[in-house]
Amino acid sequence: MARTPVTVTVTGAAGQIGYALLFRIASGHLLGNDVPVRLRLLEITPALKAAEGTAMELDDCAFPLLAGIDITDDARAAFDGVNVALLVGARPRTAGMERGDLLSANGGIFKPQGEAINAGAADDVRVLVVGNPANTNALIAASHAPDVPSSRFTAMTRLDHNRAKTQLAKKAGVTVNDITNLTIWGNHSATQYPDIFNAKVNGRNAAEVVNDQAWLEGDFIPTVAKRGAAIIEARGASSAASAANAAIDHVYSWVNGTPEGDWVSAAIASDGSYGVPEGIISSFPVTSNGGEWEVVQGLEISDFSRSRIDASVAELVEERDAVRALGLI
Ligand code: NAD
Ligand code: LMR
Repeated sequence: MARTPVTVTVTGAAGQIGYALLFRIASGHLLGNDVPVRLRLLEITPALKAAEGTAMELDDCAFPLLAGIDITDDARAAFDGVNVALLVGARPRTAGMERGDLLSANGGIFKPQGEAINAGAADDVRVLVVGNPANTNALIAASHAPDVPSSRFTAMTRLDHNRAKTQLAKKAGVTVNDITNLTIWGNHSATQYPDIFNAKVNGRNAAEVVNDQAWLEGDFIPTVAKRGAAIIEARGASSAASAANAAIDHVYSWVNGTPEGDWVSAAIASDGSYGVPEGIISSFPVTSNGGEWEVVQGLEISDFSRSRIDASVAELVEERDAVRALGLI
């Protein structure tokens, strides 16, 4: 029997991440190669025409799994019955700008979108916020969707996770397939902490394999944490294909589960684990089983790791307080 299509809403569909994302969703990479999808594209009014152009191209691919495409500038229509919401549309950071500067510019977008999700989303809705500042935008959206469990609002740190995996693999002289159990802690910002102390290279402790604290502090951590800015500097635009790829990875893991013995990184509402204040949307080591994220418990946190995690979490608390002061949560 044919399966009922899953409704996937993408905001900012006419943007550069949208362009890299939509074709992969429609070809089965987001949910699985046997799951039909119905796409809803949400854009601001001036970008509707560009979204229509992308929809024409999607039609021209004749994707067997693509059950239909709706395009709208109305958030209520976009999120009505949505199962998977990818909140990409936001103002990207430009050279020299820090994420904190984006709080007020983007906060206004995520309040009405949270309200629309609350009003019309399907009971199983899962939300991934990509638009920056992603963690705090997710907090804003979640706080305007009181009827949706807060565990359904997440923000993307999978791109940071993937970046860290490649950097560690290069240093260890292995491939990414040999790296497991990496964690990004905290904010999707330059304060994030990519943790190799609990990671493994072919089953061996990664920090011991590498055994190079100078590289860890002077190269690995800043390279991963500042990669977004380095891409902007090199490309003249923020990362797009790699961001779309990470969004696909995040939702695929969430819905279909994480591999036995490994975990991934995702920013989810804290339940107080590892001393992260409850309610803050912070990145953790997570597994997924049956469609729910679970924080990996019991990891050893050294003093070095503790101070890095605390610094990033402190930034998230500041962002929360700033949007609270702006009346956005
Ligand atoms: P872009 O400027 O190319 O596209 C953004 C799109 O969003 C535009 O088409 C714009 O019209 C649309 N938009 C703006 N307001 C909207 C609204 N209220 N509703 C619907 N659509 C709206 O930007 P991009 O390169 O696609 O990046 C999108 C966001 O993703 C940025 O905030 C960027 O910083 C962020 N990003 C996050 C990560 C991450 O790892 N979390 C990685 C890369 C980029
Ligand atoms: C990224 O990490 O590539 C994006 O979040 C862009 C940015 O502003 O860093």
